[in-house]
Amino acid sequence: MIELKNITVNYGDFTAIAGLDLSIRQGEFFTFLGPSGCGKTTILRTLVGFIAPAEGSIEVNGKDLTHVPVEKRKIGIVFQNYALFPSMNIFENIAFGLKVAKFSKEYTGRKVKEVIEKVDLKEDQLSRNVSELSGGQQQRVALARAIVMEPEILCLDEPLSNLDAKLRVGLRGELKRLQRDLGITTLYVTHDQEEALTLSDRIAVFNKGKVEQVGTPDEIYNHSATEFVCDFIGDINRLSPALVEEAARQSGNVPGKNKKGFIRIERMGTARTARSNIAFEGIITDREYYGIYTKYTFDVQGNSLKCIEKNDGNAYFNPGEKRSLYFNFDDIMLFERGGL
Ligand SMILES: Nc1ncnc2c1ncn2[C@@H]1O[C@H](COP(=O)(O)OP(=O)(O)O)[C@@H](O)[C@H]1O
Ligand SMILES: [Mg+2]
Repeated sequence: MIELKNITVNYGDFTAIAGLDLSIRQGEFFTFLGPSGCGKTTILRTLVGFIAPAEGSIEVNGKDLTHVPVEKRKIGIVFQNYALFPSMNIFENIAFGLKVAKFSKEYTGRKVKEVIEKVDLKEDQLSRNVSELSGGQQQRVALARAIVMEPEILCLDEPLSNLDAKLRVGLRGELKRLQRDLGITTLYVTHDQEEALTLSDRIAVFNKGKVEQVGTPDEIYNHSATEFVCDFIGDINRLSPALVEEAARQSGNVPGKNKKGFIRIERMGTARTARSNIAFEGIITDREYYGIYTKYTFDVQGNSLKCIEKNDGNAYFNPGEKRSLYFNFDDIMLFERGGL
């Protein structure tokens, strides 16, 4: 269990992290998600020990690590840019930490062999130079180098960001399996909401050095705590206070005065369902074809609202057509007016 208590990190006059509190559970895959510059790397580097916080404390399993040096924290780290030693071959890269810690040659050889199997590297690759490897393979080496030390915590800072899309998705699956097998508490940094949703047990959504929400992927996506979270994760429709009132009137709900509503685009549709208790008339202004589904944009009383329809052989609607958008009031996330 990791406890970050009231952590503040400054770079000169600039406060990058202000009074952060977070608890991470044993064995959890925990993700820091947020836009570039919101402080994700800063908080990870603080936990690892590269940065000393101006205030606050870091505890792991009840032990205060705030002033413990990096190499004594038992935290493995993998960076976006691999950060391998270019003059060493793969074996030497993976074995580096064991060598520094003066483990025997025999033990080191055995551990390296064990670990390359876990990250799907081949033994005949061990003598190759890291510069001969693809990005994906380099990242496997970086991962092997971290886990060979049997850390208590694994920290991964955008480890897949430099890889092309297909490889990223493949490695993502492998990473998740590996983490499950090892059962190691993992802190993962990304700006990619899909990565966060698919990999994580829980996610902390960051905005400007502060945590907006901590929750499971489903909680973050379907019960966003703030407008920022709504907007950052996934596609969302905004309903003006007038539309929220209209939706409430149709469905017999009381939303409170002057609320703004947000609703995920897949919760709206062009066909009435058993759950629908609201219908908004509008005009289709745009149609985008995505293969698996088609995305329609509607104009409803000056609001631009999107919905998606699975492509199951039904006819398409055309821009200019008058149609209705159906949905259920419970799917609207309501916030006080103001903010974004
Ligand atoms: N070494 C540094 N010196 C000064 N400012 C920094 C330094 N590192 C990061 N920052 C600033 O701190 C903020 C958070 O940065 P960072 O933690 O790298 O964000 P993220 O990883 O979420 O992109 C940014 O505004 C960034 O410009
Ligand atoms: Mg970063």
